[in-house]
Amino acid sequence: MIVLALVNPKGGSGKTTTALVLALALAEAGQRVALLDLDPAGNLAAWVEENQGRGDKVPFGFDRYESSDQNIVKLISGFVDSGKYDILILDTEGAARDTTTKAFSRTTHVLIPLSDSPQEARKAIVAIQTITEMEDVYQRPIPYRVVFTRTNAAIKTRDYKYLVEQMRAGDVPVLPVELVARQPYKTIFTEGKTLRQLESDGLKSATKAIENANRFAESVVGFIMEGEG
Ligand SMILES: Nc1ncnc2c1ncn2[C@@H]1O[C@H](COP(=O)(O)OP(=O)(O)O)[C@@H](O)[C@H]1O
Ligand SMILES: [Mg+2]
Repeated sequence: MIVLALVNPKGGSGKTTTALVLALALAEAGQRVALLDLDPAGNLAAWVEENQGRGDKVPFGFDRYESSDQNIVKLISGFVDSGKYDILILDTEGAARDTTTKAFSRTTHVLIPLSDSPQEARKAIVAIQTITEMEDVYQRPIPYRVVFTRTNAAIKTRDYKYLVEQMRAGDVPVLPVELVARQPYKTIFTEGKTLRQLESDGLKSATKAIENANRFAESVVGFIMEGEG
């Protein structure tokens, strides 16, 4: 089973948004998805509560890690050992800390979301160093991709181009599809809805967001499949 962690010590880099959008797209594509909220802020937990509160069926398994009384590794193993899921997505907290480090013991793949700011790129490098360290600790490869989020769909900024060039120069693997900046990716959190629900509500911009989300999810599947078969 795939355990995919979203990691970037920088808060606001798009981890939580990417986690939910990806979980919804993969579930819609027929994958059996679970999502684990490791951030004490509990943004995903709030989404699930609101969605369920309306009587909707949340399309993925869910749990959250709230306090250090819980055993994080056991929590992850519970999902893996249940045999009920194809993929578990971990939304980690802003500051890479104990929880994230422990979660790495069961993590098979990592995505490092970042938008096109130099601050975030620097934090992404920290994330890559952490992964490399974890590979040494756990004595196995942990494949990762940098993921550009919140990028402008129409215009490639100078900052963006510069960052892409830096990544290429440093041989940093980048996912070919970006999660571009779209309002519905915020609105799903505001209203506790899926992109499909927003679309049926008549929100026109949801359709383009769904298209991007699906292409993004396909690209993530491509990354995961790379090391297999
Ligand atoms: N692709 C996107 N399109 C529009 N807004 C986004 C996108 N990704 C993130 N955001 C917004 O950016 C902010 C930070 O994103 P979030 O996913 O919470 O980051 P993190 O979990 O890394 O702290 C939130 O307000 C979120 O709505
Ligand atoms: Mg978050």
